[in-house]
Amino acid sequence: MAFRQAPPTTPDPIAEALRTCRGALVAAAVFSGVLNVLMLSGAIYMLQVYDRVLTSRSQQTLIGLTLLLALVFLVQGALDIIRQKILTRVGAAVDRRLAPEVFRLTATMALRAGPGHDALQPGRDLDAVRGFVSSLGPTTFFDMPWVPLFVVLCFLLHPWIGAAVLVGCLVLFAITVLTERASKAPITETARSAAARSGIAEATRRNAEAIEAMGMRTALSARYGAVNDRFLAANERATDVVNTYATVSRILRMALQSGILGLGAYLVLMEQATPGVMIAASILMGRALAPIEAAVGYWKSFVAAREARRRLSHTMHLLPRPADPISLPPPRRMLTLEQVFAGAPGQTQPIIHGLSLSLLAGQALGVIGPSASGKSTLARVLSGVWHPLRGSVRLDGSELSQWNDEARGGFIGYLPQDIALFDGTVAENIARFRPDATSEQVVAAAVAAGADEMIRRLHAGYETRIGDGGVTLSGGQRQRVALARALFGDPFLVVLDEPNANLDAEGEAAVTQAIRHVRERQGIAIVIAHRPSAIAAVDMVGLMKDGRLQAFGPRDEVLKKVLAPQRKQPT
Ligand SMILES: Nc1ncnc2c1ncn2[C@@H]1O[C@H](COP(=O)(O)OP(=O)(O)O)[C@@H](O)[C@H]1O
Ligand SMILES: [Mg+2]
Repeated sequence: MAFRQAPPTTPDPIAEALRTCRGALVAAAVFSGVLNVLMLSGAIYMLQVYDRVLTSRSQQTLIGLTLLLALVFLVQGALDIIRQKILTRVGAAVDRRLAPEVFRLTATMALRAGPGHDALQPGRDLDAVRGFVSSLGPTTFFDMPWVPLFVVLCFLLHPWIGAAVLVGCLVLFAITVLTERASKAPITETARSAAARSGIAEATRRNAEAIEAMGMRTALSARYGAVNDRFLAANERATDVVNTYATVSRILRMALQSGILGLGAYLVLMEQATPGVMIAASILMGRALAPIEAAVGYWKSFVAAREARRRLSHTMHLLPRPADPISLPPPRRMLTLEQVFAGAPGQTQPIIHGLSLSLLAGQALGVIGPSASGKSTLARVLSGVWHPLRGSVRLDGSELSQWNDEARGGFIGYLPQDIALFDGTVAENIARFRPDATSEQVVAAAVAAGADEMIRRLHAGYETRIGDGGVTLSGGQRQRVALARALFGDPFLVVLDEPNANLDAEGEAAVTQAIRHVRERQGIAIVIAHRPSAIAAVDMVGLMKDGRLQAFGPRDEVLKKVLAPQRKQPT
């Protein structure tokens, strides 16, 4: 048995992902530094032209300076392009690193966090984070530390110029803070209503047939419209706020730039500065204010990314990656339930109460009982889909949670009541999309499910594309394919939730045969059934009622006991 150390739970996987890109981020920051120093060249050029070329009237100096400036601009452009490319790649790297985690969240959110959590939100959040990291947004952060340099240089030109630029910076910075305060709520609301909107769209896509048949489109359209209006209103508020502040800061910057020229001209008149200083001051101030102004412009995507990051961290914290358990051998002897209480995800109210039972390899249990008695809940707990609130489900003495998901899937076969096939070929669905599945395994599973012949008759046989949810198959065909998927790889524990619901006599015979086969190969089968005909091949029967196991024992005994009083009422 290989003991593997559980990985330390990281407090923030996003920060960790960014840390792995530290080299690239440092490079981008260094490039920003070089760029900012190079940006001084415009101001120096102006100083030289005004104060040297114009006074000395030397064409050669002018040509030399101009060529030099052109070269600097070329280098500047190249560095800027590289800096942008680095950030784009950092965004992609963060995304690539977090994508499996986001997929895990999407797959488990509904099972662990319960309703009210949007399983698609982590994907959207990661998009927002990547989008911001890959944009020009982060460059404003890199440029920001250079602002003081430009301010100091302005002070060197003339104290009054320095003071004016400093005040300008502070005012623009204040606008940034105001933008933050005014835009936070509407930007959060925009994200929330966008999620609600896509939730309705998704449900509409899923239920298109019912909507069409029962003329529900107008009514649902009104619901969609209401949510959409909320989204548009929030988006309008957020955009208005950000755009208004961005415009104010742009106008202010333009005014400041003219103002500084005026101040420069005044200083020239007072013979306190040269014309070159006047022009250079204007350029330097432009450089000092640019990152602050850009920050206001990027504020919306920055806040959206920051919120997305916070939500994503929170969700990851809520649904931590289970520590990789030690690898246990697959079970082969028995299944035991001890005082199991279980309920829907996110709810504390149990649906099944204190179930205890035990089955040995080679046994099969039929679970009967009225609708809503908790049969499907039991099936979910047995197959590890829902975790018990209390009590334990053990295979060979180890709780289900002691195997990791992949290993557990290898010895559990589950046919959910709503079947749940995926867009893909019949063979891929039976093979559970495992890339290492062989054709022999797939056909063996189909034969065990009595579905081989039916599948061969499909237009492309095992390679038939069945569409999302198996839409191109009939209900019975879907159920047979899902039964084959449950039997794929000869799992030790096979849980079938109403496998006969859509089947004809031939299909029922196939289910009976499949259960017999599981027992012969020393597995355990559990069949949830509505009709007694479905449990022909089981040796044990349990009767569920109001979430409790009312009777449990050898099949004929239990059936005799429960069917006798029920004869009178038709089912
Ligand atoms: N996802 C769920 N969230 C909340 N309640 C649920 C959920 N699934 C089932 N229930 C409730 O649990 C009870 C038992 O349901 P279920 O196990 O599906 O019964 P059965 O399969 O016997 O018809 C029902 O009252 C049902 O409303
Ligand atoms: Mg059910």
